[in-house]
Amino acid sequence: MVMTYDKVNIAPMLAEDLEAVLQIERASFVAPWSQQMFEDELRLSQSQTFVAKNEDRIVGFICFWTLPGELQILNIAVDPSVRKRGIASDLLRIVLNLAEEKKVREITLESRASNGAALSLYRKFGFQICGRRKGYYHEEGEDALLLILRR
Ligand SMILES: CC(C)(COP(=O)(O)OP(=O)(O)OC[C@H]1O[C@@H](n2cnc3c(N)ncnc32)[C@H](O)[C@@H]1OP(=O)(O)O)[C@@H](O)C(=O)NCCC(=O)NCCS
Repeated sequence: MVMTYDKVNIAPMLAEDLEAVLQIERASFVAPWSQQMFEDELRLSQSQTFVAKNEDRIVGFICFWTLPGELQILNIAVDPSVRKRGIASDLLRIVLNLAEEKKVREITLESRASNGAALSLYRKFGFQICGRRKGYYHEEGEDALLLILRR
């Protein structure tokens, strides 16, 4: 399955994509997922990860779980050198289309309260803040915001 959007091709992540995904992960987060965490996701039946490719280069990814009635986005990141070009929007769009196909009524995710770029991306897609987990990111004691998009 390969789906083509304006800027990138989006396809399910393969084991051979892991190194490029890890590089983006490490460039994107203070407490990045480990290789083992991505490998665990690849094995889980409810988990899917899609990568965005520009020609042959992986430029972003999104990882999510599909649960009964709910789709939960666990991780999304775009290579810092190609941000603000609509790649995260393309990745989100494909996941929202999938949610619609599967008649999922709620799409949920968590974001750091200080992550302005992510929060404005989610707001643009209609997500609303529905909760706060105090001190969830224990490294800095930062709160997590819970966001939901109801269909
Ligand atoms: C958040 C992130 C995934 C956005 O990726 P992106 O490909 O640059 O996003 P897009 O180009 O699709 O942007 C879509 C919208 O998001 C918002 N946005 C994206 N980057 C932004 C920034 N730096 N500041 C403010 N708003 C921003 C804007 O509303 C933008 O719409 P616009 O272009 O019409 O202004 C990217 O910044 C990233 O990888 N950050 C590090 C990892 C991360 O924080 N992941 C989210 C965890 S919850």
